[in-house]
Amino acid sequence: MSQLEELQKRRTFGIVSHPDAGKTTLTEKLLLFGGAIQTAGAVKSNKIKKHATSDFMEIERQRGISVATSVMAFPYRDLQINILDTPGHKDFAEDTFRTLTAVDSVIVVIDVAKGVEEQTEKLVEVCRMRHTPVIVFINKLDREGKDAFDLLDEVETKLNLRVTPLSWPIGMGQSFQGVYSLYEKKFIHFRPHGKQDSEETVAIDRVEDQRLTDIVGQRPHKQFLEELHTIQGVYPDFNRTDYLSGKICPVFYGSAVNNFGVRELLDCFVEIAPTPLARETEERMVEPDEPKMSGFVFKIHANMDPKHRDRIAFFRICSGVFERNKNYYHVRLQRNLKFSNPTSFMAARKEVVDEAYPGDVVGLFDSGNFKIGDTLSEGESLHFKGIPRFSPEIFRFVNNTDPSKFKQFAKGLDQLMDEGVAQMFVKLDSQRKIIGVVGALQFDVIQYRMEHEYGAACSYDPIQLHKACWVVCEDLKKLDEFINRRKKDLARDKDGKLVFLAESAWTLKLVQENFPEIQFFTSSEH
Ligand code: G4P
Repeated sequence: MSQLEELQKRRTFGIVSHPDAGKTTLTEKLLLFGGAIQTAGAVKSNKIKKHATSDFMEIERQRGISVATSVMAFPYRDLQINILDTPGHKDFAEDTFRTLTAVDSVIVVIDVAKGVEEQTEKLVEVCRMRHTPVIVFINKLDREGKDAFDLLDEVETKLNLRVTPLSWPIGMGQSFQGVYSLYEKKFIHFRPHGKQDSEETVAIDRVEDQRLTDIVGQRPHKQFLEELHTIQGVYPDFNRTDYLSGKICPVFYGSAVNNFGVRELLDCFVEIAPTPLARETEERMVEPDEPKMSGFVFKIHANMDPKHRDRIAFFRICSGVFERNKNYYHVRLQRNLKFSNPTSFMAARKEVVDEAYPGDVVGLFDSGNFKIGDTLSEGESLHFKGIPRFSPEIFRFVNNTDPSKFKQFAKGLDQLMDEGVAQMFVKLDSQRKIIGVVGALQFDVIQYRMEHEYGAACSYDPIQLHKACWVVCEDLKKLDEFINRRKKDLARDKDGKLVFLAESAWTLKLVQENFPEIQFFTSSEH
């Protein structure tokens, strides 16, 4: 099969949700359809359990297991589906952001009772910035929840997405009868009570069809027709071009745990979701059908076993064909590397692959050559865009508490930062190191890993900071003046970029007013 045929078969996407909305359950059902797993519960057991939030040892253990579920590839119809796992745990938000850079589309899972929650808002914001096509799955319709229209409103206002429902629920909770698929013009009847497959499908082209009344009853049918009338008046018709450009977002309703509405979601997804997209680099656009191989590292996973320090770099292929044992150019290091054991993640098994195509992710064993964002190519100097770092939310000074282990301390911090566990900033005035994270638990993880993997000891001192803002100014004289006047609030990030450490939202505002020529950004790419 040619490269073009192979890449047209690929659908690479991520599922995002606020913890508990049902992402794991949905993933599992999709894998069951693809035959990638045989029994329910297979994914679930790998999940980072919520009660373990304060137990970082448990997280460490799970981190090892989660390699297996980082990428889940399975065949469906004649396609190859790649699901990239976006950790739902709140302390892993950074990792999740980065994974979103490697997908071509996302499915957002929303709990019908809770509506749009905070973490979903943040993640979808990243998708919107990148115009990633989004499908929304409203889950847990077997429970009482918010009104279906109110949920659409919430998605529009909180997620800033224009929606178009492709299925519509009849009833909810106790009185939930099923959903009518506006996309496939059929009614899917909900049959609960613990059946493996809880749905029964009836093809009904005309929504007024008496058969629908017979199934759901007169009143619910009438209400459905009225609601449909409103839908047609208020929401735009589905149009694939608008979906692909991120302008509208189709919405589905269902119940993942009951395996209800999941097949409809998957069947629509495989029809409309994008094939591997072109990617922007600082130099030019890279098209997936270009003959030469290129791609980038979006995630690095350290090996848990202290005797085997190898890490796995997750490499997304953007163009060409990736081949085992072929020399590729590592752009940052400016040298060639070849990989004898690239692994794929078919059916949750890791296996060595000889070839992989755009849209695929391969795991590359790495002894310290990779950083997040690194490019491999066939010689061209390319730098993929869209792998920004975002301002952390919690900051602390980090100290080396054992001066005799200075080297281990420096190496450990360096590698953990390459892996993207946290971000480090070095202050311009005192040269003190500050670590910034999204969830406080990462501080414990760093301390633990520094000790167990690098033999180094560290402690933290508090520092009150609101945000780290990347600073840009064309006028070098003004920039110098700014640096001189605010040195005590400035630092360099890992790439040497200048960062303003704002103590509060108020200080940030004040500084922006006082230095109008300076631009402040809360992400490293602008
Ligand atoms: P997450 O990955 O987004 O964090 O969510 P997960 O799939 O783990 O689902 C969170 C909880 O919601 C689970 O219950 C799961 O069974 C339940 N759930 C998922 N889909 C549905 C649905 O359609 N209807 C209902 N009623 N519940 C649903 P749990 O009690 O936390 O776990 P478990 O004991 O069931 O394993």
